[in-house]
Amino acid sequence: MKRVVVVFQSKYGYTKKYAHWLADSLSCDIMETDQVSVKQLEQYDIILLGGGIYAGGISGASLFIKNFNVLKEKTLVLFTVGLADPQKDDIFSEVKKQFNQEMLETIHFFHLRGGIDFPSLSLLHRAMMGMMKKMLLKKPETKRSESDRGLLDIWGTKVDYTDRESLNPILFFVKDHLNQSA
Ligand SMILES: Cc1cc2nc3c(=O)[nH]c(=O)nc-3n(C[C@H](O)[C@H](O)[C@H](O)COP(=O)(O)O)c2cc1C
Repeated sequence: MKRVVVVFQSKYGYTKKYAHWLADSLSCDIMETDQVSVKQLEQYDIILLGGGIYAGGISGASLFIKNFNVLKEKTLVLFTVGLADPQKDDIFSEVKKQFNQEMLETIHFFHLRGGIDFPSLSLLHRAMMGMMKKMLLKKPETKRSESDRGLLDIWGTKVDYTDRESLNPILFFVKDHLNQSA
């Protein structure tokens, strides 16, 4: 039987929620990126790594990037969590720039919608979001994308788009891989 693990890095808890739902559905181990060593990961066959997207970068993705040569024979799943809506945005065009061609061909990418609670953001994140708002407001209204308008609409509030059902494509993928080796 193949061994499965979920590893995650989460600043405000959205990725953590998905990671726990995944581990619950798959009855597998779960760890945070800062608690896990590559030696430990080598014991697993399927590794699901999740991280929030911050200004186009994926938290915790370096675990796969730095250790790719050791882990590349395994089934690697990377799930990103962000405000971006996969129905409206091309999420991976920016995010995938962090990976080389071999990584892009090996890692299986999925995106899930997280959330944001503006009043509880760290000072750094508040400043980053402030800069983003300035940029969005500078754009003529006609040039703003649907996501730009969506972000301005929820500005300053708390929204939570997490949805357990949105994990189905990942669960289907993992279960399919488990069946292949049963
Ligand atoms: C400073 C900052 C930058 C962000 N940049 C992006 C982004 O580029 N794309 C996106 O989809 N979401 C972005 N988000 C939203 C986060 O990805 C979202 O809050 C996510 O749910 C965080 O997950 P976590 O709490 O597990 O870290 C950003 C949030 C902050 C505070």
